[in-house]
Amino acid sequence: MGECCRVKTLLFVLGYARRYMTSMVVAIIAMIGLVGVQLTAPAIIRELVAAVEGGVWDQGAMDFVLRLALLILAVYAGRAVLRFFSSYMSHVAGWNVVADVRRRIYEHLQGLSLRFYEDKQTGELMSRTINDSDMFERLIAHAVPGVLVNALMLIGVTLVLVSMNWRLSLLTLIPIPLIVLAMRGFARYVRPAFRQRQQELADLNATLADNLSGIREIKAFVREGTEALRVSDHIDRYRDSMLRALRLMATFEPFVEFSSSLGTIVVIYFGGRLAFQQVLPIADLVAFFLYLELFYQPVRNLSAVWEQFQESLAGADRVAEMLDEEPEVKDQQGAIRLKERAGGELMLRDVSFHYSRGEEVLEGINLHIPQNSVVALVGPTGVGKTTLASLIPRFYDVCEGCIELDGRDIRTLELESLRRQIAIVLQDVFLFHGTVRENILFGRPGATEAEMIEAAKIANAHAFIEQLSDGYDTVIGERGVKLSGGQKQRLSIARAVLKDAPILILDEATSSVDTETELLIQEALERLMVGRTTLIIAHRLSTIRKADMIVVLEGRRIVEMGNHQQLMARDGLYRHLNEVQARIEPLQEDEGESRDLRRSAFN
Ligand SMILES: Nc1ncnc2c1ncn2[C@@H]1O[C@H](COP(=O)(O)OP(=O)(O)OP(=O)(O)O)[C@@H](O)[C@H]1O
Ligand SMILES: [Mg+2]
Repeated sequence: MGECCRVKTLLFVLGYARRYMTSMVVAIIAMIGLVGVQLTAPAIIRELVAAVEGGVWDQGAMDFVLRLALLILAVYAGRAVLRFFSSYMSHVAGWNVVADVRRRIYEHLQGLSLRFYEDKQTGELMSRTINDSDMFERLIAHAVPGVLVNALMLIGVTLVLVSMNWRLSLLTLIPIPLIVLAMRGFARYVRPAFRQRQQELADLNATLADNLSGIREIKAFVREGTEALRVSDHIDRYRDSMLRALRLMATFEPFVEFSSSLGTIVVIYFGGRLAFQQVLPIADLVAFFLYLELFYQPVRNLSAVWEQFQESLAGADRVAEMLDEEPEVKDQQGAIRLKERAGGELMLRDVSFHYSRGEEVLEGINLHIPQNSVVALVGPTGVGKTTLASLIPRFYDVCEGCIELDGRDIRTLELESLRRQIAIVLQDVFLFHGTVRENILFGRPGATEAEMIEAAKIANAHAFIEQLSDGYDTVIGERGVKLSGGQKQRLSIARAVLKDAPILILDEATSSVDTETELLIQEALERLMVGRTTLIIAHRLSTIRKADMIVVLEGRRIVEMGNHQQLMARDGLYRHLNEVQARIEPLQEDEGESRDLRRSAFN
């Protein structure tokens, strides 16, 4: 990190800390007070020794001793109070800043476009949000005050020592290069070893998390043996790295301790001589010993704290970098807010699109979706149907061409007001940890109980929800009751129903249900599509026969367009796909009952 960036990052952190200036100032004042207190205690002892030396026990001496005792009592009491303020107040500032930063990071992440998430691992983003923001606390509550206090202490002690005897003071400097050397060795070898241990721990965590979520697969493929070995390997690696770090620490710590104690040797040897020669008063000799620890301590601390300072700045820098990331899809300047319900006419003009990595997925797509019409997208898997659908709510912006809603380029609309016009049932349904009710209300948090139940009924979800142990209050999601694929789909349809938007996008909304349920859902969707512009994606072609227009995608482009009859009349991909499916599902096609049901569903 360059010097200028370091200053920039520090300013960035202090920007967040500004709101907690009061507690920081209190903490710093308390810390300065502590330095003063720590310097006072040896001075009092020195006074005592000086008075005892050649003094006589009389009334005056008794008063003097009492005064000193009371004085040191006051000093220690003061130290206790100051200690509280210095340690608590700096943490108040530190953890408040961490909370602010985390909030800010989350809001920022939420605002970033899906493109940002394409090449990111959830674990990595979580670690940035949690671990890197912790560095702000380290910086504000420990590193910055640490540098300040230790520097002050060093200056203070030096002044006191020099004022007593500058020659002896100079001599006590002798061990300092050794201490610094020992500390640098510590920083160079021991800390990286601990970081390595941290990494091994993260790896162990990741492996465990992966294996526990994939426990079904492990059992199904009888991989218990190999997987246990793999985990065991990580456990061993963690132990080894931990022991290595501890071994290095055990090696370096005595060395640091040894070099700091050299000072005592210097004072005994030189100080003792000076005292015998009557050059140094005994009181000063005693004070020298007492101050000595106060002298080497900040020397040791400073190098540790400086390192901590660097490390936390690096963390803060990563946070700053992430916050610098601009959302790719965002409101233009002067974006138009759609106040009312949009008409729902969609127009794609020469649309091309590709993801950040990889080649063109869609090329030169021209498509007109009239208001209140039902348009179906079909085509082989991986052709780009989901991709095309995700361009409409601007999950991604088109790379070329444009998409218009009621004649206006959607990029000129306010993102939020655009997305309010669109209800989506996604191909991969995601339910949040929470109750069924909360998950349905996700579509429109303000809806009443009656409206919510009505939506569930339309989605044909009401019946199965009633049978759950706690009905609408059943907790679902990762830590709750697991729903089947079809149940999840119906919940997500209920969610979309509740949203009641003029544009409806259904991506494989009936893919994971049985034929009967499919018909029920089909029925529900039929009701839902009335008065809405609908884009429906389905592999099972029987479900889209009634669409006003069927669009066939192949190889990045639209290859056919028309209604079922028109497309069947041509000898194209659509007819081919239909024929293949008819061969696979002859029962479904021939069963009179189901055909009747289907007809009733569509009429
Ligand atoms: N987030 C993404 N990042 C990069 N490439 C993607 C992403 N999502 C999809 N793709 C790629 O874009 C292409 C189209 O994918 P898409 O999901 O749109 O296909 P699809 O037609 O919906 O397929 P399916 O019928 O299986 O749902 C595929 O080649 C896929 O690998
Ligand atoms: Mg898809």
